[in-house]
Amino acid sequence: MYRTHTCGELRAAHIGQTVTLSGWVQRRRDFGGMTFVDLRDRYGITQLSFNDMIDASLVEQARGLGREFVVQAVGTVLERENKNPNLATGDVEIRVTELRILNGSKTPPFTIEDATDGGEELRMQYRYLDLRRAPIRNNLLLRNRVNLLVRNYLAEHGFADIETPFLIKSTPEGARDFVVPSRVHAGEFYALPQSPQTFKQLLMVGGMDRYYQIVRCFRDEDLRADRQPEFTQIDCEMAFVEQEDILAMFEGMVRSVVKDVHGLELGAFPRMTYADSMRLYGNDKPDIRFGMTFVELTDRAQGAGFPVFDAAELVVGIKVDGAGAYTRKQLDALTDYVKRPQLGMSGMIWMKVDESGVPTSSVNKFFDEAALRGWAEAFGATPGDLVLVLAGAAAKTRKALSELRLHVAESEGLRKPNEFAPLWVLDFPLLEYNEEAERWFAMHHPFTSPKPEDISLLDSDPGAVRANAYDIVLNGNEIGGGSIRIHDRAVQERMFALLGFTPEEAQEQFGFLLNAFEYGAPPHGGIAFGFDRLVALLGGDEVIRDYIAFPKNNAGRDVMIDAPSPIDAKQLTELHLGIKPQ
Ligand code: AMO
Repeated sequence: MYRTHTCGELRAAHIGQTVTLSGWVQRRRDFGGMTFVDLRDRYGITQLSFNDMIDASLVEQARGLGREFVVQAVGTVLERENKNPNLATGDVEIRVTELRILNGSKTPPFTIEDATDGGEELRMQYRYLDLRRAPIRNNLLLRNRVNLLVRNYLAEHGFADIETPFLIKSTPEGARDFVVPSRVHAGEFYALPQSPQTFKQLLMVGGMDRYYQIVRCFRDEDLRADRQPEFTQIDCEMAFVEQEDILAMFEGMVRSVVKDVHGLELGAFPRMTYADSMRLYGNDKPDIRFGMTFVELTDRAQGAGFPVFDAAELVVGIKVDGAGAYTRKQLDALTDYVKRPQLGMSGMIWMKVDESGVPTSSVNKFFDEAALRGWAEAFGATPGDLVLVLAGAAAKTRKALSELRLHVAESEGLRKPNEFAPLWVLDFPLLEYNEEAERWFAMHHPFTSPKPEDISLLDSDPGAVRANAYDIVLNGNEIGGGSIRIHDRAVQERMFALLGFTPEEAQEQFGFLLNAFEYGAPPHGGIAFGFDRLVALLGGDEVIRDYIAFPKNNAGRDVMIDAPSPIDAKQLTELHLGIKPQ
């Protein structure tokens, strides 16, 4: 038997027992005739002690142990002289009577400690060592826990876990597909699913009523901290539901997960229209843990002769409470922040209200005290507050201010990872126009139903049509999105036509779905959560990489197994991708 207990298990109650532990050597400390070894496994750390008064050869053996050796130790549980209150097993130690080295280890390329000296790339290359560190291990255990909680919740509500295929057909909407060449069918390709969207709808047509899957999805898109080329969704679909039914069901799911993981009772989730979200926060995934909502100044600020404002489509700002003492250097740093090429603003205007209530600004030349008092009133700024204003083209200015808002909130410590502020964003536009492609694109996906009351606008004013679509946002991150679907062939065909498909193209690419709609498709709708994002946020992070056991790096590579990689000529030929033999 390798062990009687784990390294996280022994307490004062075990004193006097003979136990066997197995694990990795975290650290060894030698003093005079004593040696101590911290033995680690998934469950914790237990101190082993070796005393040469008892067995000198054992001490010698222990002194041969290097970091990350795998050992088995038999010994007696003793009360520890120097108790370690930071360790669950800190009241006891094992006086070792037998030691067996199960495997040696090279010195690891980085320290296996909570705060490691290993850089990202090195940790990814030796991910199996990184997994031994408590922070990563705990992330994966949290992931497992959330997975079980979600499954239990959905099972309790009658959802059935049904698998859908990974080798499917490439579709033109959405992100780029990862494709897989077919060996048997020369020149033909499968695509990996960006999501099981059409299959879950077909499951509803198939009468499955409530479906879910915790499922891998694949998207060939640019990577970001919250994006991986393969990621996991909690994918759900329900028949005979309206938007309200879905919001209630999945609000309940998030609430029960947060309650279980953090012991927090979340109230009813606030709801905001897409239009309000853009107007007040400049994006469709607002972080509502703090205020700093946008205040538009366009009318008030124009006509005073300040060319930047006069030429702007939008003048808009935020108030930072109590930041009136920001130095020139701090304000310059914020200006540089919005001038970065990613945001591309030409500058930033600030106004401060001093302790006696007198406003002053970086544009005093154009705005006198009375005008600035008007600004202060618009923002509700009181003595000691700072106002930051941007001006320019509306969409670009909103985006820049939204980034600035998060940046300032971050440095003011307002983005607290242990606070959870979810909300629903509703009434998304159905379509958005792409200037480059000169056509409409589905904002969510082409299967999303327009609001019935807006259907009449489909031909006259497509941009004004709102969708029965919703996103769920947590702490400024989109953790899920979904919609009520089209279940009527004629409406779906009309949608494809709006998106620039000819009837033949629509039939060729989505004929399976259009045909299914002719055989009694029930009204249905659903949602998919980004599982990696949800877990990361529950763990207090926004970067999803360390919540995935074997993630890809920033360049989309798996540096441990070295993928992607070339394949040999024979394989290429078999797949009909090689150079044909002469
Ligand atoms: P959507 O494309 O919004 O909807 O995806 C759902 C959720 O998945 C997460 N997500 C990602 N997470 C990590 N890396 C990525 N590359 C990535 N892309 C998306 C986000 C997002 O909210 N079929 C629809 C859902 C539906 O309509 O039911 C869909 O896939 O958190």
